[in-house]
Amino acid sequence: MVVNCALTRKFLLASSLLLFSIVILLDFLPRHISILTFQYDRAIVRPRDDREDVFVPKFKRYHDDKTEQERLKSVDNLGRMDLIVKANSDPLPPRTFTGSAKTMCSGGKNGSDVCIPKFKQLETRLRVADNYKLMTCIIQKSMSTVMTAIMCYLYNERAFTEAGREFARECTQIRFCQNKNEFGQVAGVRQAFNVTNKNETNKWRFTMITRDPVDRFLSGYVDKCIRIPHGSGYCNGCHRNMTCFILSEYDRIKSQLERGHLFRSFEDRHFFPQNWRCDLYREYNNYRFLRYSSDPSGTLLDDLIPILKEQDVPESSIQFIRYQLSTGRTVHSTVQSEARTFYEQRLRSSPFLLEYIVQIFYYDYVLLKYPFPEGF
Ligand SMILES: *[C@@H]1O[C@H](CO)[C@@H](O)[C@H](O)[C@H]1NC(C)=O
Ligand SMILES: *[C@@H]1O[C@H](CO)[C@@H](O)[C@H](O)[C@H]1NC(C)=O
Ligand SMILES: *[C@@H]1O[C@H](CO)[C@@H](O)[C@H](O)[C@H]1NC(C)=O
Ligand SMILES: *[C@@H]1O[C@H](CO)[C@@H](O)[C@H](O)[C@H]1NC(C)=O
Repeated sequence: MVVNCALTRKFLLASSLLLFSIVILLDFLPRHISILTFQYDRAIVRPRDDREDVFVPKFKRYHDDKTEQERLKSVDNLGRMDLIVKANSDPLPPRTFTGSAKTMCSGGKNGSDVCIPKFKQLETRLRVADNYKLMTCIIQKSMSTVMTAIMCYLYNERAFTEAGREFARECTQIRFCQNKNEFGQVAGVRQAFNVTNKNETNKWRFTMITRDPVDRFLSGYVDKCIRIPHGSGYCNGCHRNMTCFILSEYDRIKSQLERGHLFRSFEDRHFFPQNWRCDLYREYNNYRFLRYSSDPSGTLLDDLIPILKEQDVPESSIQFIRYQLSTGRTVHSTVQSEARTFYEQRLRSSPFLLEYIVQIFYYDYVLLKYPFPEGF
């Protein structure tokens, strides 16, 4: 009995100790994990929609299963021409307004309120290379990965090359410069680097890649609504019907403006005007605008290199950038697909649809100096 009792007591003690430690562990473990994930979440500020133009080297393009699956799914979705044609088979009405975009948007009392206003504050994502007084504002689907990589390299060329970095591997998740040269407001850059007066501003170059509104719309539309659609009610519940999407997106923007609150949903941010980004509402005059090009080693370099030279970036660094850009390309290119050709033809041949596009992007055309579609 006595022995048994002592044994039982030991057993009880041992098991309560065990229980205690399990409780402690269970108590601490999840918190630890949640702290970790919390920090991780914080570190990758809004990463998800950077996916669309992950920059990968030519020969590694589809090296993992996930990418391969995604590619097959994309090819499948983009190839459903029967469904795409069917969803867009209805004839389209004529334009509502006649006359130029200018009279429609800035002219009479009637026109001004059908067009979406300029300079709202949507969001700003900046990358700097302060030793060269360079800052770039990135927008999804406008060579954001390429520009991020260039600025990261220029931010610290030696560290970048010593770490064996290539532009091609600078995917969003593991960005070398993450949280080091990133800002969410031009005011933050001004404060951090003492760019407080006109003289200092003139020594800096603020750049931004812009894209023709129709081209940007089509690219975003085919990518988000056709290639990899998200959720069942995707793209305002319009599925493959582009007319429905353009009309409902226009209404969404209008009603968000009326309520005075921009939602920035996954889809919206690709279809809201570019002039709502990058703090253009107060920094428009300080920016240099570079044209988007589907091949980063082409016109981007022609536009960018003079700016790099103005900022005294050494020739060897320029050569490195040039070489890096010529050895990789963007994965999710939608330029060539049959779907893209179809939607482009549908949009460009419809004054009715173009009218909505011009109403939404009027100030992108004006401020970023793109020619209006024919007839506007
Ligand atoms: C413009 O407004 C005037 C009155 O303000 C109205 O008579 C006219 O019908 C309107 N035109 C259009 C195209 O809406
Ligand atoms: C910022 O600039 C002002 C003059 O423009 C100068 O007096 C000041 O020392 C600078 N501060 C830093 C930290 O460089
Ligand atoms: C700005 O620069 C000019 C010449 O480059 C100089 O004369 C002027 O004093 C500067 N102003 C300020 C506020 O630093
Ligand atoms: C596409 O959407 C528009 C606008 O909602 C609608 O009028 C049209 O009938 C739809 N087309 C098809 C083929 O469903």
